[in-house]
Amino acid sequence: MTVKPWSQRFESALHPAIVAFNASITFDIELIEYDLSGSQAHAEMLGQVGIIPKAEAQVIVAGLEQIRQEYRQGQFQPALEAEDIHFAVERRLIELIGEMGKKLHTARSRNDQVGTDIRLYLRDQIAQIRHQLRDFQSTLIDLAEVHIETLIPGYTHLQRAQPLSLAHHLLAYVEMAERDWQRLGEIACRVNVSPLGLGALAGTPFPIDRQFTAERLHFEGLYANSLDGVSDRDFAIEFLGAASLIMVHLSRLSEEVILWASQEFGFVTLTDSCATGSSIMPQKKNPDVPELVRGKSGRVFGHLQGLLVLMKGLPLAYNKDLQEDKEALFDSVKTVQACLEAMTILMREGIEFQPQRLEQAVAEDFSNATDVADYLAAKGVPFREAYNIVGQVVKTCLSQGKLLKDLTLAEWQALHPQFAEDIYAAIAPRQVVAARNSVGGTGFDQVRQALERVRSRLTSKDEPRHTVP
Ligand code: ARG
Repeated sequence: MTVKPWSQRFESALHPAIVAFNASITFDIELIEYDLSGSQAHAEMLGQVGIIPKAEAQVIVAGLEQIRQEYRQGQFQPALEAEDIHFAVERRLIELIGEMGKKLHTARSRNDQVGTDIRLYLRDQIAQIRHQLRDFQSTLIDLAEVHIETLIPGYTHLQRAQPLSLAHHLLAYVEMAERDWQRLGEIACRVNVSPLGLGALAGTPFPIDRQFTAERLHFEGLYANSLDGVSDRDFAIEFLGAASLIMVHLSRLSEEVILWASQEFGFVTLTDSCATGSSIMPQKKNPDVPELVRGKSGRVFGHLQGLLVLMKGLPLAYNKDLQEDKEALFDSVKTVQACLEAMTILMREGIEFQPQRLEQAVAEDFSNATDVADYLAAKGVPFREAYNIVGQVVKTCLSQGKLLKDLTLAEWQALHPQFAEDIYAAIAPRQVVAARNSVGGTGFDQVRQALERVRSRLTSKDEPRHTVP
């Protein structure tokens, strides 16, 4: 029969199904290293301020370290009966060092303990995701570097709109990733606040030193209110919001790669290292990687929604509902990390742009029509009038199966006397792109400057990583 720490207060044992239902050890084992570090800091503090003898605190810290080694060697496998990682560690500590182990839980509760653990966990994971975002950006930048002068059709409403430098298109995702990186940095400040020492909900009568444990664990601040601190999961929701946006960005890029790889577009081919075959159609090469990334985005959005709903009806302070935060958080972290890794590989070696097909694509449509209107406007024709004239030109061309570049000078001049020989240069795709040299535009000079800017951002110093232990 399971003996729970609270068993003295109860008449009979828990139903075995309820033991399983209540347990979180199957997933919160993920927190073990953070739980151990948090407990070590707490034990040291108990010794430091004299709540327990210093010598005993040292034995506790060493016992916890031994559990860490056991875990790392695969020898710490707590049973379901342990309920959660906090009880599992405490139980093992008592097995290892006896009576002294029973003093560890003085002046704290599992409520401030679990809050500490998930904050330490999330702080580490955020640092890793930010690192991965940097890798993703630098992969896109490398790719952009060789494609400054490669042209690609630009779309609005998924209709051909204006041609672009392919580098400009890729750099759009570098900017999105930059905001993701910043956002996670801002959230990290609110994650990095210590709830340790808040007790179950009201603080503790012991003369603890919260500053001491916070410093040991590299927290940057302390929760000011015990009720708030033990039951706050805002930081987790903020993280899921930021994680969702990362997935939105990865999913949009995925969607584009999938379109580009289709026979209809043919802008990229997938290399063998990142594409898969069909079990029945031998000719096929499938974009599984971007499809999976697009598909997995739903999980992260779902977890965000799940946690919002989890929190909205909770009275202060801790409620067992909060145990449900962990799987949402862990799964989101793993999903984002796996997707960032896969997309980085895909962009580095999984796709090959097809320059010939791209060149043909930008030459075969009316995406230079705006430039004809701009041409007239630059010669003093009011833009709206120019726009209407070009509308007529496009209509005529369509009815004759021609493109703008196929019109003779006489035909141009019949449409408007301001057209001259230089109209042909003005509507050549390369010129159309080069001309858009306004700040943030696709003009080659702008793109070169943008590349320099984003590169220097990457080489600027990253914040230090806090890792425990
Ligand atoms: N396993 C619990 C959780 O994840 C730990 C905190 C339990 N606290 C309590 N008062 N039952 O939330």
